[in-house]
Amino acid sequence: MTESMKGLRRTHRCTEVSREHIGETVTVMGWVQKRRNLGSLIFIDLRDRSGLLQIVFDEPKVGSEGFAKAETLRSEFVVAVTGTVEKRSAAVNENLKTGDIEVIASGLRILSESETPPFPIEENSQTKEELRLRYRYLDLRRPDIQRNLMMKSKVAMLLRNFMAEEGFLEIETPILTKSTPEGARDYLVPSRVHPGNFYALPQSPQLFKQLLMCSGYDRYFQIARCFRDEDLRADRQPEFTQADMELSFVDVDDVIDVNERLLQYVFKEAAGVEVELPIPRMTWQEAMDRFGSDKPDTRFGMELINVSNTVAGCGFGVFTGALEQGGSVRGINAKGQGTMPRKKIDKLVEFAKGYGAKGLAYLAVNEDGSYKSSFAKFMTEEELKSLVDKMKGEPGDLLLFAADKNKVVWDVLGALRLELARELGLLDKNQYHFLWVTEFPLLEWSEEENRYMAMHHPFTMPMEEDWDKIDSDPGSVRAKAYDIVLNGTELGGGSVRIHQDDIQEKMLEVLGFTKESAYEQFGFLLNAFQYGVPPHAGLAYGLDRMIMLMMQCDSIRDVIAFPKVKDASCLMTDAPNVVDEKQLEELALSIDISEEKEQ
Ligand code: AMO
Ligand code: AMP
Repeated sequence: MTESMKGLRRTHRCTEVSREHIGETVTVMGWVQKRRNLGSLIFIDLRDRSGLLQIVFDEPKVGSEGFAKAETLRSEFVVAVTGTVEKRSAAVNENLKTGDIEVIASGLRILSESETPPFPIEENSQTKEELRLRYRYLDLRRPDIQRNLMMKSKVAMLLRNFMAEEGFLEIETPILTKSTPEGARDYLVPSRVHPGNFYALPQSPQLFKQLLMCSGYDRYFQIARCFRDEDLRADRQPEFTQADMELSFVDVDDVIDVNERLLQYVFKEAAGVEVELPIPRMTWQEAMDRFGSDKPDTRFGMELINVSNTVAGCGFGVFTGALEQGGSVRGINAKGQGTMPRKKIDKLVEFAKGYGAKGLAYLAVNEDGSYKSSFAKFMTEEELKSLVDKMKGEPGDLLLFAADKNKVVWDVLGALRLELARELGLLDKNQYHFLWVTEFPLLEWSEEENRYMAMHHPFTMPMEEDWDKIDSDPGSVRAKAYDIVLNGTELGGGSVRIHQDDIQEKMLEVLGFTKESAYEQFGFLLNAFQYGVPPHAGLAYGLDRMIMLMMQCDSIRDVIAFPKVKDASCLMTDAPNVVDEKQLEELALSIDISEEKEQ
């Protein structure tokens, strides 16, 4: 039998009760974490979102009816307890915030009973994620997930405070809208009123925030939900949240300045992390050359070394072949790993192949100065020595080389560097290494589409000094685009936008748009630009990623209340799902799932 709350009022959350309240009467409400019977006493740990509090039922104090009720309590029952705060009679529990006190109950109401939950509600759960996500409402009771969501709420509040102080206006942009070109597939919503027509859910508020600049709002900010139909990974969800901003009459340094102060403020207030300013900056080219990645993890070294000049003309065909094809040969030095067993090296080779490598050449410098290598036999002593010197190889080191097109070499060694760091325990989650990556290429060649694509988006401003190469060598034009990277994760990105007609027109032409197709897709923006457009620039953070890194989580799912799994479904609601025939009719849709699509 469950009871109502009539006449009762919660006075404290569980961990708001402290030594200061000794002798006072309090009323607390929450879930039974566990019950223990100890002779004539019954103990429960009461849990709410703040934490745990020990309650003691002693028959003379709580009465025989209350005591009998306490005997029926099981995990996850919801109860209200009134009682007196006392110093703990038994040993103090150092692990609990309320470990030095307890509440001696004088009244107990059972507000709701619970079935035995399918898994224990506890920190650092060992339960499989699939089961936890099916019962996400129970999983969300666990303290670690609760801390993550509380942190997200706190960070959102800090962001709003900061942005308001800096003169940003929070303005909402539509969710039912038209395609935004951010490079992923759109989620579409069919229109009932316009049969055969679809809204697209926004991949970001990009076009609208630019329009707001045209409308004179000057500084815009939004905590915005974005939707992208792309392959999911540990740091990607199909719907996610951006902390999104746009500013007028600014250039790269203005955006960086405001955002450095924002990061310093938010990380300090939310997580106690000191962000030293200025945050280091690195061009895209330097990031690729040194780290093989446009989001380098700078918590450790093991940088890439270009040995192309050193091995040019050597006897090893794999190296010279790659150079002849216009590629490069680069290596990393895994310090002190020279005794890595062959089996483990083979695993690294397989790993490299997963990133497109045709192979991975290695050379271990033995303690006696001799070499153990997959290619030494193809090179002279001198060639080997100059290669080892170039790599700063010392006895005990393992040198790993990739030879291929630049892009493949960067991808392979960039990934290998991270893999080795993971294995060697070089990734310290307590270090926060921020980095601006700047001067991204404006365009990226797409083999698939056989044309140039915008690396950031089609409205990103090229660097003035490169613009005259747009016809002769489009691939070499750099953009006023920047990413903020934290510990090897892209936390946010943005750019200065094109506000000049002629540049925008040319850019769309290079991207393969005809005037008609450009107007069809974003004519409203191009039209708006005919009526006086301020120079503007902006940036968006992945808010979920920010919390994930702050809370040192391995998965973005741990910081989203109701996340989706790898195939973009929700295990709890079973979304996406079929709909009524009638709904389809109203939308003038019919479903035709060919066998191919079904699997
Ligand atoms: P961009 O596409 O780089 O830029 O996105 C900005 C940031 O959003 C986060 N993010 C994601 N987080 C979780 N799941 C995803 N699927 C996902 N995709 C992106 C990343 C990323 O850095 N409109 C531009 C910004 C601008 O130019 O102002 C934009 O959306 O942390
Ligand atoms: P092979 O001559 O193919 O037996 O290769 C000799 C060594 O070079 C092996 O260790 C291969 O893994 C390695 N290798 C092959 N292709 C490449 C490549 N593109 N880059 C680096 N190493 C390679």
